[in-house]
Parts: sequence; C-alpha cells; structure tokens
Amino acid sequence: MTDTPQTCRWQVYATTEALQADAVKIISAAAESAISARGEFHIVLGGGNTPRAVYESLAGIRTDWSAWHIYFGDERCLPPNDPERNSSMALQAWLRHVNIPHMQIYMIPAELGAIRAAQEYAKLLEGVGDFDLVLLGLGEDGHTASLFPGQDWGVAAAAPAVLAVHDAPKPPPERVSLSAWRLSRARQVLFLVAGAGKRDAVKKWRAGDAIPARAITPKSGVEVLADSAAAGEDR
Ligand code: 6PG
Repeated sequence: MTDTPQTCRWQVYATTEALQADAVKIISAAAESAISARGEFHIVLGGGNTPRAVYESLAGIRTDWSAWHIYFGDERCLPPNDPERNSSMALQAWLRHVNIPHMQIYMIPAELGAIRAAQEYAKLLEGVGDFDLVLLGLGEDGHTASLFPGQDWGVAAAAPAVLAVHDAPKPPPERVSLSAWRLSRARQVLFLVAGAGKRDAVKKWRAGDAIPARAITPKSGVEVLADSAAAGEDR
C-alpha cells in the first residue's frame, strides 16, 4: 500500500442517472478549463459498464474536439475490434461519433499480449505529463483499472508506468493497466461507482482497508461519485 494518504471526497446520488449527469458536467468543465489554460485536454478513460452512459452523453456536448487527447486506464488482451475491449465500448458509445483526431486516441495495443503492450504504452506515456482528468471505476473486490487485490499495483514511482496483468480474477485474465503511481499523476481523478454490487467495496474503502482504489493518490485528492445503492444509503 502507498504511504501517501488518499484524500477522498464522496458525492452520493439518489439515482444512477443523477450521478451520470453530474459526471458529464464535471468532465465538460475539466475539458473547458484545460483547453482555455493549455490548449489541450488529456483524459484517461475508465472501462467496464458504469461509464458507458456517461460516454454516450459526452458525444453530444459542445467542445473543441480537436483539443482532446484520449488514453485508456486499462485494457483487456483481446483482438483489436473485440466488443469486450474497453476501447471498443468507448468507440461505440462516444469516440466514433465525434471529431477527435485519430492520432489523439491512444489505444493500448493489448492484442500484442500483456507484456509487449505494457512496454509499448509505457514508451508512449514517457512523453506525456500529468493527465488533466483520470476516470476510474470500482470492482466488487475493490479493484480499479486492472489493479486487483493480491497483485502488484505499481505504487512506487520506481514501478513501471504500465503493468502487464496476468491471472486477473475478472475475465479476461490477461490485461494491461496503468500503474497506481501513473494514474495518480493527474490534476483530477474521478471514480464512478454504481450499483448495490459495489456496496462491500465501498464499505471497505471508507473503512480504510487496503484496496486497490485507495492506492490512487493524486495531490488534489480523488472524487468519488457513487449512487445510493453503492453507498448503502438507499434513498
Ligand atoms: C475493466 C475495468 C474495471 C471496471 C470495474 C467496474 O476492464 O473491467 O477497467 O476496472 O472499471 O470492474 O466495472 P463495471 O463498471 O462494469 O461494474
């Protein structure tokens, strides 16, 4: 576990829809402030199902898409167009519907296998500074990106920026994940957490248990948007 304490701001919503609507607002605001300050917006996308509706809504916002740079927090080692890839979900829900320059969508080449893909993506990230925004999810066991309990999370700055993940408990077993320290190099980190299935993980998180999600420690702290089902606060 990292010795950098995590600052965590919790936001609980009565409905998943309210959470998703606010997530879109936060992402759009982060984009506009980055673009006006630096002319570019560098965002890391989360995988799984929870962000899909948010991505679908983002396809409809007004912004300068030519300034967006898209990275992936983790990927599943599956063939390029496999619908189960996190990149396929993001493309289908959002990216193929907007004019982000193709060269600014940085896919993880997970089809190369975990080890080679991790090396390739680490090389790509060498030229990249702090991300403007990192989106993350939470698994039922407390995992985030593809950082799983009992495995290496890459907390120390000496760790690789990108990890090859084997024997992941969530299929598929072969994955690639940005490490905890690299995900923490961000101006803003936003967790999207929905559904009663996440209740135990949220309880452990709030109790201070050493779960992977707590290893994400950007200077600015993290924001967790959770619906009442996940937060155990049925409203
Ligand atoms: C993946 C994700 C993973 C995901 C959580 C939550 O590849 O599966 O990156 O970390 O965010 O497992 O998944 P759901 O949103 O589908 O519950």
